[in-house]
Amino acid sequence: MKKTRIAVFVSGGGTNLQALIDAEKRGEIPSGEIALVLSNSPSAYALERAKTAGIKSAVVSKKELGSQEAFEEKVVEILAEEKIDLIVLAGFMSILTKSFTDRFPERMINIHPSLIPSFCGKGYWGLHVHEAALEKGVKVTGATVHFVNEIPDGGKIIMQKAVDVQEGDTPEILQRRVMEEAEWIILPKATEKVAKEMSEKA
Ligand code: GAR
Repeated sequence: MKKTRIAVFVSGGGTNLQALIDAEKRGEIPSGEIALVLSNSPSAYALERAKTAGIKSAVVSKKELGSQEAFEEKVVEILAEEKIDLIVLAGFMSILTKSFTDRFPERMINIHPSLIPSFCGKGYWGLHVHEAALEKGVKVTGATVHFVNEIPDGGKIIMQKAVDVQEGDTPEILQRRVMEEAEWIILPKATEKVAKEMSEKA
């Protein structure tokens, strides 16, 4: 069966990308291959991780291209060149417009660091999500992998995992626990699930 060609979109540190790379190495993503890492920032450490793993990478800067439209056009062009089947947003901190998301129905997934529908949507990204969870005083949080549509964090849920909030947690401590106990586990699993379904349909 043909492997699903995966592009991972990143903006920063790339620990979720690393989890995907490590899972692929361990043979836990047998239905897919990470063919490309795409960053919207030239300084993202995730690019180093791609390089170390020998994965092709690309940087597309909205600042340089001047508009969201030009940015998305360039991304679409690169994805076509690389024959990408599935996009995984792994810490990608830029909202994509409907004209982009419509091109990839159920072919683009995202990891979000909360149990959707809590603490999600516009403004809820990175550490802000955990700040909001602690402010609300929830005792359980977690992570969600979902399909991406035009509504930020609004697409169909694929996988979730809960994580306990502990006494004395700071946003940073909670973020790390959510990554270790949830994100790095469910992102590779959900990626394999979707890649498998796609390769079976292909
Ligand atoms: C992760 O916690 C990810 O879930 C979150 O940003 C972090 C990126 O870390 N994503 C969002 O908030 C998206 N709305 P990483 O670069 O180390 O994977």
